[in-house]
Amino acid sequence: MSDGTGASGGLGWPDAPSGPREFSTGLGWPGERVPPQEEPTSPQATEAVEAPADDAVSRETSALAGGRVRTAADLSELAVTVHDETTPLARAAEHSVLARMGARARVAMPRPESTRVMVVANQKGGVGKTTSTVNVAAALAQLGQRVLVVDLDPQGNASTALGTPHHRGVASTYDALVDGTPLAEVATPAADLENLWVVPATIDLAGAEIELVSVVARENRLARALASHPGIGSADVAGDDRFDYVLIDCPPSLGLLTLNALVAGAEVMIPIQAEYYALEGLGQLLETIEMVRAHLNPRLTVSSILITMYDARTRLAAGVADEVREHFADQVLKTTIPRSVRVSEAPSYGQTVMTYDPASPGALSYLEAAREVAQQVTQPTTQPTTQPITEGAPR
Ligand SMILES: Nc1ncnc2c1ncn2[C@@H]1O[C@H](COP(=O)(O)OP(=O)(O)OP(=O)(O)O)[C@@H](O)[C@H]1O
Ligand SMILES: [Mg+2]
Repeated sequence: MSDGTGASGGLGWPDAPSGPREFSTGLGWPGERVPPQEEPTSPQATEAVEAPADDAVSRETSALAGGRVRTAADLSELAVTVHDETTPLARAAEHSVLARMGARARVAMPRPESTRVMVVANQKGGVGKTTSTVNVAAALAQLGQRVLVVDLDPQGNASTALGTPHHRGVASTYDALVDGTPLAEVATPAADLENLWVVPATIDLAGAEIELVSVVARENRLARALASHPGIGSADVAGDDRFDYVLIDCPPSLGLLTLNALVAGAEVMIPIQAEYYALEGLGQLLETIEMVRAHLNPRLTVSSILITMYDARTRLAAGVADEVREHFADQVLKTTIPRSVRVSEAPSYGQTVMTYDPASPGALSYLEAAREVAQQVTQPTTQPTTQPITEGAPR
């Protein structure tokens, strides 16, 4: 493969072939890439996003829609036994099996009575907050819910993943927070999915923490913006066009932006990466949530903990997952998200994995996680069910 510079001899490398430069992934330049679903390798790849129209729904599909949630064990086993991308034939077979088992089951779920505002937070960086926000949001949209994603991270990763421009000058979260622009004016439809809207984040948001310091009730800015949106609220007030879910993607810190989200939301979803040190720092996040609940937002609860980047082949991942379940038995979703190349490459096409490769294990896992979220009826508390976490202890 060409090294892109044309230099070859001298170091013992074979001569680079002439022709177009390629990335080492072999995918070519971004503009030349063809997302897999544009040329599906199996019929299921296109069928996957369509809800079944009639009684032809398979029994397993009905069982899934009827509430049986596939467990993490099921999914990780699926990922290990079926995931094989070595040949086009193997890939087509994989799609076929996975799509038959779950992807066609995207029948609409009942809508909540009023908008559920969920804050996706963890001050640890790179644990899958953004990936979980956009994929759970996309999965909920595929399940017939109307969803708004608020990108509250100046990095703007959620905006990128949803194919929404977020360069300087675009109407964004900054305008809503700092200038008080109505949220409805800064929300735009996501690129590839119906029912999904995005409030993008531009780099200006990085300055918002400082600019808001002198503003009265600075921690309430997002809460006010959400409260004055006509499509956010209960069915009788906001009507059928209401949003069913608002998902807020937080930056990796517990600063004023995350505080705004915690004051604005009623539920927190905490993604936890199945890695060593996963629980370190979590105590601080829970303390912050507790303080916000005590002083600023009594409705706030931790409703979901989602284990991400789970590698079923390692004992470490299983150990971390066990420990998380031990501490948060009621809040941990049964579904874990496997580590998957498809999940991580989807944003480079401006997509979520839910549209980029809907039958892949990552997409099916996010779909299951979204179903679990949609089925939650009770609101658990923030209290760990067993011993509190000891900061600094090796995990
Ligand atoms: N299930 C997964 N499989 C493989 N890679 C993943 C998975 N989930 C997330 N990633 C990758 O891990 C990295 C971090 O994920 P992400 O950006 O979602 O984390 P984050 O918590 O939002 O990060 P930050 O704290 O910077 O906002 C990204 O490169 C993402 O593509
Ligand atoms: Mg992020």
